Amino acid sequence: MSRKPAHPATLAAQAMGLIDEATGAVVPPIHTATTFLRDPDNQYRRGRSYGRADNPSYDPPQALLSALEGGAATLLFSSGMAAAAAVFQSLPRDSHVIAPRVMYWGLRSWLQNFSEAWGIAVDFVDATSLDAIRQAVRPGGTRLIWIETPANPLWSITDITASAEIAHNAGALLAVDSTAATPVLTQPLALGADLVMHSATKYLNGHSDVVAGTLTTAREDAFWARIVTTRSGGGAILGSFEAYLLLRGMRTLFPRVERACRSAQQIVEALSRHPQVLEVLYPGLPAHPGHAVAARQMAGGYGGMLSIRIRGGAEAAIGVAAGVEIWKRATSFGGVESLIEHRASVEGADSPAPPDLLRLSTGIEDPEDLIADLETALGAR
Ligand SMILES: Cc1ncc(COP(=O)(O)O)c(C=O)c1O
Repeated sequence: MSRKPAHPATLAAQAMGLIDEATGAVVPPIHTATTFLRDPDNQYRRGRSYGRADNPSYDPPQALLSALEGGAATLLFSSGMAAAAAVFQSLPRDSHVIAPRVMYWGLRSWLQNFSEAWGIAVDFVDATSLDAIRQAVRPGGTRLIWIETPANPLWSITDITASAEIAHNAGALLAVDSTAATPVLTQPLALGADLVMHSATKYLNGHSDVVAGTLTTAREDAFWARIVTTRSGGGAILGSFEAYLLLRGMRTLFPRVERACRSAQQIVEALSRHPQVLEVLYPGLPAHPGHAVAARQMAGGYGGMLSIRIRGGAEAAIGVAAGVEIWKRATSFGGVESLIEHRASVEGADSPAPPDLLRLSTGIEDPEDLIADLETALGAR
């Protein structure tokens, strides 16, 4: 009897259905060994020698993410930043990189401050414009186009398929920070990207209790081999317990993301009608400039992330954030609890976030409670 391949949601819920061969346990063990036995003839036939390069606790979450992203291989890192940095650090010297102006501010700032020292020239462009990406290409010099979609904190959308084409025509790679989309809603590799990065701190783990990052590759080629060496040599590795927690979090990725998408849609509808709200930024809204592209490359929803602009400027926005009780005033996103944040306060002077913008991460609470809490905070203004 042949079975149809399991759906991604089934693979995630069962963590690929892996059973520990030694014990029959349906939850894989946490391996804490930092070193592995050498064979009497001086070989390491079992393939593992030392904990900085090899950790059996990584195998199940890496295999699951490769399956969900449709990739050839995945690496876990100690944070999303470590995963992103590994890509840039693996480029050859004098590489030219194109990156978006609207992107996770921490990576933008790291690129602005450190890329030159690494021998990398970065051009920041409006990545919602394919012409702007195309015009930034330096023939023979551009090695990487980095995009983030939907992108923090405006939830701008970049066309993955078209960006991959521009990258490949230039002999460059396309890497996608898909943290906000998650593999539930978008598979960038199937759209032509070469690498997918996640801050697994967000939706993949989903419980605001692990800092982790991932990279998944379309091919195990020479560049991937450099990334593998960057991780083991640079040592930006995840702890075994965190790898276990990440796998545990990923088992509920689909229901968490599906619920967050549905609730976000309801919140967006309620806030769009509110007189204190100047604008709602959400790619699911037909009026969002990236809606048509998002509708093509996101399936099953537009994510749990949205931003709102409050009438009355920064002070009014900070006042609304001060007035919530159920939403928590905290940075980060993608957890089971809903978070609200005045983004310009975090990102500093060159932030694309207008001063009146609040970023909202929709959790899995009852959406009516979330809406009522926001309406009370908005009404108190
Ligand atoms: C879109 C995005 N990419 C990357 C990162 C960096 O991830 P980490 O905080 O896990 O290092 C973040 C963190 O907020 C993020 O929001």
